[in-house]
Amino acid sequence: MQNKMSGSLNHAMIDGPAGRAAQEYANQFGQPGFHDITRAYIEQNYAGYTEENQETWRTLYDRQMEYLADHASNVYLSGARNIKLVRDHIPYLSGPKSVNTFLMPLTGWQSKAVPGYLPAKAFFACLARREFPTTIVIRPKESIDYLPEPDIFHDIFGHVPLHADPTFADFLQTYGKAALTTDDPHHTERLSRLFWFTVEFGLIREGGRNRLYGSGLISSPGESKHALTSKEVDRRPFDLEAVCNTSFEIDHFQPILYVLDSFEQLRDAMDTYAKRLLDAARDNAHV
Ligand SMILES: [Fe+2]
Repeated sequence: MQNKMSGSLNHAMIDGPAGRAAQEYANQFGQPGFHDITRAYIEQNYAGYTEENQETWRTLYDRQMEYLADHASNVYLSGARNIKLVRDHIPYLSGPKSVNTFLMPLTGWQSKAVPGYLPAKAFFACLARREFPTTIVIRPKESIDYLPEPDIFHDIFGHVPLHADPTFADFLQTYGKAALTTDDPHHTERLSRLFWFTVEFGLIREGGRNRLYGSGLISSPGESKHALTSKEVDRRPFDLEAVCNTSFEIDHFQPILYVLDSFEQLRDAMDTYAKRLLDAARDNAHV
């Protein structure tokens, strides 16, 4: 979400008429006549990947998976196995061997290809439907070490394995529904911090050790090690109020991270917060 900046990932796969139409629809989502979020989705057009794209995927996968085997949350690792994430090729979103085929029976979540940045409400509308807006292009070879915007490695390798876990799956949908109901800038900012410090940069305590689960850490070789080992990182126990009151910056390694005890802790805290927002929306509707 917050790190889905519009950027330089131009590619024939998303720049055609269908991609432009989907992006224009997403940009107007929520205005009168623009309430069908599925019109922001596009096809993956898998034949558009070049051999260099496939090589970039394999390089990123190899580089990161070996480290993650001993440093990522077991929930992430079993999710990656369950959706059959492999090094050999960029994942298929649809079809018999696709991540969606394996995800559907586990949690009902699906990855949906989008042409680029989605405005916040459009993004939340996807999550509320158990659909994850997914960037389909992959970073250019020359930007293999760092890309400030998401690509398919960040979105599928980084995010989607957790969608195979029923507890995280419920949390993320509840987040989307809650975020969709509020227009209060105070809560919008709090929710963006919650997303940042959990979905993007979260740590979790497992077997007496901190482990990675946030996609921004999972998909970043440099920051994943820094998050776990640097003395400059302040690792704090997760507390929803504390998280919502902590601001963040996007252009350097995170100096503050929050550590979950379990995904149940995250789901339950989100349920409580969502109820508060939904009650407030109902009360406002009655005024
Ligand atoms: Fe992300």
